[in-house]
Amino acid sequence: MTPPSRLHLRHRTAVLATLPVALATLVGAAGATVPGKAGASGAGDPYFPLSGNGGYHVRHYDLTLRYDTSDRHLDGRAALSARATENLSRFDLDLKGLKVTRVTVDGAPAAFRRDGQELVVTPRHTLRAGRDFRVTVTYAGTPKPVTDPDGSADGWIPTDDGAFVAGEPQGAMTWFPANSHPKDTSSYDISVTVPQGRTAVSNGVLLGRRTEHGRTTFHWRETQPMAAYLATVTIGKFDVEQYTTHDGVHVYNAVDPREASAAAPVLKKLPSVLSWESKLFGPYPFRSAGSIVDHASVGYALETQTRPLYDSAPDIGTLVHENAHQWFGDSVALTAWKDIWLNEGFATYAEWLYTEQHGGDSAQKTFDALYARPAGDHLWAFPPGDPGSGGNIFDTPVYARGAMTLHELRKAAGDRDFFRILRAWTAGHRGGHGTTAQFEALAERISGKRLDGLFHTWLFTKGKPNSA
Ligand code: ARG
Ligand code: ZN
Repeated sequence: MTPPSRLHLRHRTAVLATLPVALATLVGAAGATVPGKAGASGAGDPYFPLSGNGGYHVRHYDLTLRYDTSDRHLDGRAALSARATENLSRFDLDLKGLKVTRVTVDGAPAAFRRDGQELVVTPRHTLRAGRDFRVTVTYAGTPKPVTDPDGSADGWIPTDDGAFVAGEPQGAMTWFPANSHPKDTSSYDISVTVPQGRTAVSNGVLLGRRTEHGRTTFHWRETQPMAAYLATVTIGKFDVEQYTTHDGVHVYNAVDPREASAAAPVLKKLPSVLSWESKLFGPYPFRSAGSIVDHASVGYALETQTRPLYDSAPDIGTLVHENAHQWFGDSVALTAWKDIWLNEGFATYAEWLYTEQHGGDSAQKTFDALYARPAGDHLWAFPPGDPGSGGNIFDTPVYARGAMTLHELRKAAGDRDFFRILRAWTAGHRGGHGTTAQFEALAERISGKRLDGLFHTWLFTKGKPNSA
């Protein structure tokens, strides 16, 4: 056995002394405390490098919020039940704006500092990998939306009677401290206190509402894993309607009265849309459903989990789209924003299918009309499987060419296998995550065909593809 050379030893010592990470390890090893290092400030997503964090998983969020609709002040307390996935000497949460007054870890006050959208928390002791811990953050202030790379507003968006709260892709951090990347999904308890007469609508089931001293508290619970961007607490003056469908799904609709007459005929179709989607995509993945129809000029709708959020009365296509996301995007979550076509391409194809099966154009006809667009059209600006930046993730190529990809798959696999693939996808990844590579592999397995050429052409090739 050859002893290590002196040079090699010296070199190693020098490296240890200069790296803070290694230094922490040395100190930890020498002292009573376990060696630990800082959790990463991001989840490793190149489109949004600071979204999410490394070193832990949040199992459950318990949010207690109070919002004053007249001065737009938010008081918040977030209690996170988390599990360390590394030995952590410190870790980050995502939180933008707002003032943090206190942070505890397992009941003991923890040191914290702000660094842009990162709330950096240093517990008294290193958190060992595999250990469960509880963080509380007390905060307050006037939440403001963030502007996304595509110019849209995202997060807590004040309205004339409350707030429109949508978090895709990065707005969750505007109203609660989070591990804000779809890689990390969690259950939620959300309790919101608002002035009496306003309604606060969130995800999952309404466990209770209580009015005291001119304020009403709404307590919501979502037990199924949910990405932070899918959480909402939209506040306003809403008409509320509740019922249970034949399939036992509890529906809660909240509608701004200014949108009520336009929304009514579309919302009436929700149970039939959900049961139609269940036949195609597999059982509805949640116990509750519904709609939040606000009156705000935000410019988009969002598939907030169990209960999509609309900035005005939706048309039937939008209702079909946002509810299709409950299977594609919500119950089966992304691991990277690059794979966004798994959400938007699928929800868009659901619209085409709905039209086809409800007396409108066939999906083939919709495909043909798009395919007729010239090579210089924006539809072909970038490939949907590799949009290239966070500014492109909600652009036409992701939605329309993503749906065209599914149509090509349907033609290659045949209808029977195509719908088998969709149902195997939602069943196999329910409550979890999925990647483009996994979808391709599943499609090949079920169809028994080689599909690498098809996926490569439609998802990853620049410019207008040659149709099969
Ligand atoms: N996922 C939404 C949809 O149903 C779009 C969200 C757009 N968000 C944004 N910040 N531009 O298509
Ligand atoms: Zn969508």
